[in-house]
Amino acid sequence: MSEASAFRTLDDADVANKRVLVRVDLNVPVDNGKVTDDTRIQAVLPTIREISEKGGKVILLAHFGRPKGEDPTLSLAPIAGEVASRLGKPVAFAPATIGPVAEAAVAKLQPGDVLLLENTRFDKREEKNDSDFVAALAGLGDLYVNDAFATAHRAHASTEGLAHKLPAYAGRCMQEEIEALAKALEKPERPVLAVVGGAKVSSKLELLGNLVAKVDILVIGGGMANTFLAAQGKDVGKSLCEHDLAGTAREILEKAKAAGCEVVLPVDALAATEFKANAPHRVASVDDIKADEMMLDAGPASAANVVAKLKTARTVVWNGPFGAFELPPFDTATVAVAKAAAELTDAGKLLSVAGGGDTVAALNHAGVADHFTYVSTAGGAFLEWLEGKALPGVEALRR
Ligand code: 3PG
Ligand code: MG
Repeated sequence: MSEASAFRTLDDADVANKRVLVRVDLNVPVDNGKVTDDTRIQAVLPTIREISEKGGKVILLAHFGRPKGEDPTLSLAPIAGEVASRLGKPVAFAPATIGPVAEAAVAKLQPGDVLLLENTRFDKREEKNDSDFVAALAGLGDLYVNDAFATAHRAHASTEGLAHKLPAYAGRCMQEEIEALAKALEKPERPVLAVVGGAKVSSKLELLGNLVAKVDILVIGGGMANTFLAAQGKDVGKSLCEHDLAGTAREILEKAKAAGCEVVLPVDALAATEFKANAPHRVASVDDIKADEMMLDAGPASAANVVAKLKTARTVVWNGPFGAFELPPFDTATVAVAKAAAELTDAGKLLSVAGGGDTVAALNHAGVADHFTYVSTAGGAFLEWLEGKALPGVEALRR
């Protein structure tokens, strides 16, 4: 029995003429007002279209960023247009999540119409899964569809609470994510190699500790690798580094050793004194970083090392880039490793699964996202799923 049959899906929902609250993840990367990667928007279009075509009134709920209260810079207003242009039909926007303004916007909907409500996190009760806030949201709809796998690791009002208050269903994106991840990673062929990159160890501490018990090779990249290098007594100069986490980094290395997990850290870097595109830089050993330098990408020996490890693996799971991939040439290591993983996948030698906003953007940038076995819209949720944790947003949809 497939994992997804454990959930009610849109197949079970009668949406015609109903007000359908659809939780989506529209937390897309935006630079200077422009959406730089629309993977998450594309991913929820099938659910929106299906409900709309079946005559449901689609009311989209989403968060954007991590506002502390109302914050005009984190309004979803511009995102309504981004969804509309891809959907090929208008998406109304209400500058409120609950209350009279939201209610009036919902009341105007005809069957098939689509409305986006303001950032759910403008109300601090959202993240507290507050029952009054859940009730206010539930009052706007007849049914609830959760299509936000990428936010399913949060037990918030719009991701978890609502599922207990209204008849609840998994949307098509949610359904596909659960099915695809289960199929690819339920019993992964070994060796399993995990690449974990990105800026901060602190945000992925628990994950790293749990992963070393699950995977055979753990490649640590990006800014968080610097914390490990510093913990080994290396001078990382002005590199991004959480020096106060040295002890924790050493504990993770110990844990890996005990679990028989090989940890791979960078041996060289592209070092620069300025954080900008095309900043003058040099290839430097991690033992030779100058006081005023920053490691902005893994160096060529490090990338080659990771590619060699990939060739020994049967499964790779990837979250987080190796360097500041948005600033060329500090995308070099990420692109090189991404291309190698894609080629091995095409050759049938590797099963490759990647997830996370930056990671997906990096794979798209490298032009290889289509060559991976599966690319998840989720970052944090994907990682928690990998750790074997129950995701509250998914659990709440079980039959
Ligand atoms: C994400 O971007 O990973 C999801 O949208 C969840 O966002 P959060 O980490 O701010 O909860
Ligand atoms: Mg995130």
